[in-house]
Amino acid sequence: MRRLLITGAAGEIGSVLRPALRDVAGAVRLFDIRPIPDPQPHEELWLGDLTAPGVADDVTRDVDCIIHLAGIPRETGGTPAEIFHANTLGTHLLFEAARKSGVRRMIFASSNHVIGFYRAGQPIGTREPPRPDGHYGVSKVFGEAMGRLYADKHGMEIACLRIGAFRARPGNARELGGWISHGDMARLAVACVTAPAFHFLVLYGVSANTRALWGGDHAARAAVGYIPIDDAEDFAEDLEGVVLEGLGAVFHGGTVAALDFTGDPDLID
Ligand SMILES: NC(=O)c1ccc[n+]([C@@H]2O[C@H](COP(=O)([O-])OP(=O)(O)OC[C@H]3O[C@@H](n4cnc5c(N)ncnc54)[C@H](O)[C@@H]3O)[C@@H](O)[C@H]2O)c1
Repeated sequence: MRRLLITGAAGEIGSVLRPALRDVAGAVRLFDIRPIPDPQPHEELWLGDLTAPGVADDVTRDVDCIIHLAGIPRETGGTPAEIFHANTLGTHLLFEAARKSGVRRMIFASSNHVIGFYRAGQPIGTREPPRPDGHYGVSKVFGEAMGRLYADKHGMEIACLRIGAFRARPGNARELGGWISHGDMARLAVACVTAPAFHFLVLYGVSANTRALWGGDHAARAAVGYIPIDDAEDFAEDLEGVVLEGLGAVFHGGTVAALDFTGDPDLID
């Protein structure tokens, strides 16, 4: 591969992926709106706002594969308008620029919050209709739909990663199911970038957690060869009693589903 582009490369996930992806391409282009620290010789740094006119066209030039991380990464990270601006407009501009530039493959950082309003305890796969738990989740449903469109209509290879809780270690009982370790996130990204040709895939970005409730993605995992090795269960003893309460415990989305909730939980099957 000539060139891999990572958007949002200065962020938490981007910083972990950088060393893991160093050798998968001739060059790795790192793009972010804020400064990217500690550039390495083989890395090309590119500062800019993805939502500004022409920026996506410029940054995707001569790129074969994109890992798209840039955006507002949580429900509380901005107003709904800010989330839609960064996440939906930015993602739209990137997909379209990628198509025009002839990018072959795009790996989209989706989120478990696309299914956040399913009831906790109920196993969820990748074929259920989306059920986002906030504006952030809606922005990720949009990104997955863009992926589906650009795969079907334009033949791009698209993998949507419904990332769980990306942290050094799980922080509460909910994350015993939805945690992804730094190492497994890196393994997942490398697998998606280096896999043989595929069409459209949806995978949960989670470790090999004993208590995992998100799944149904075995074929997609096999297609890219993702084999997670960490398990949140190793931290379970430390997290005994660290549970979500009230509405936060009722839905897969946890506290995000509970945020600003004015509905009737009994109506949500
Ligand atoms: N961290 C998690 O647990 C988690 C879980 C699910 C999904 N995700 C998704 O993964 C991606 C990366 O998450 P993260 O935790 O590294 O977030 P982060 O905020 O640390 O990184 C996102 C980066 O995107 C950049 N960015 C934002 N708007 C931009 C714009 N308009 N132009 C260029 N750059 C822009 C930010 O400067 C930041 O460096 C996000 O899309 C997020 O929604 C993360």
